[in-house]
Amino acid sequence: MEPTRWPGVARDGRDLYTRNLEPGTTVYGEALRSVDGVEYRRWDPWRSKLAAALVNGASEEILGRPDRVLYLGGAHGTTVSHLSDLWPDAAIYVVEKSPASFAPLLALARRRANLLPLLADAQLPERYRADVGEVDLLYQDVAQRDQVRIFTENAEACLAPAGRGLLMLKVRSVTQRRPAAAIVRESRSGLGRAGWRVAEEIALGPFAREHVAFAVRR
Ligand SMILES: C[S@@+](CC[C@H](N)C(=O)[O-])C[C@H]1O[C@@H](n2cnc3c(N)ncnc32)[C@H](O)[C@@H]1O
Repeated sequence: MEPTRWPGVARDGRDLYTRNLEPGTTVYGEALRSVDGVEYRRWDPWRSKLAAALVNGASEEILGRPDRVLYLGGAHGTTVSHLSDLWPDAAIYVVEKSPASFAPLLALARRRANLLPLLADAQLPERYRADVGEVDLLYQDVAQRDQVRIFTENAEACLAPAGRGLLMLKVRSVTQRRPAAAIVRESRSGLGRAGWRVAEEIALGPFAREHVAFAVRR
């Protein structure tokens, strides 16, 4: 097991790992490895778009350690669990609107004190902004048509002025009708019009087809 340029992420050959905050437990059937008394969980880029962004060349800044995080679209907690491993002292608020996905997310959060799940609609940040307060990282992975608007409204509600964002854009949720490149271009322009500077843009294929990760700052 070797360190990588991303703080807290280890590598064995091509595989990425995070140090398991909950030794002996897997979250989504991922492989566990113990080295010198430390247990690691394999971080699968086919299951986590953030791992795909790392494999596809994201900079070390993408995993800069935040104190407070708002994560939109937590699903069952696959990626969230690795952020929980990476940032044990952070407060990670996780919004998920599907009750079926929220149940396993809640079970995960009961075992990991840094996860704070909220059963809520990311389109209505005014419903949870008082609970969340101000965060320094906004992460979004919701398969919705208006992903840039949802991201911007949540940033206005909860992101500190010097905060940063990670937007996992699912192109085909925006529209099925136009070429992917045009949708990515329009989303980038939309981010620019909303006051965001795109620091990194990473295509996530082949792990997540027609998805792009945007790392942004105001
Ligand atoms: C692609 S999955 C997220 C996968 C997860 N981020 C991961 O990497 O482990 C998208 C999730 O967003 C949720 N979602 C979609 N629209 C939402 C909304 N408006 N508010 C909150 N969650 C939403 C869906 O229920 C689904 O669980």
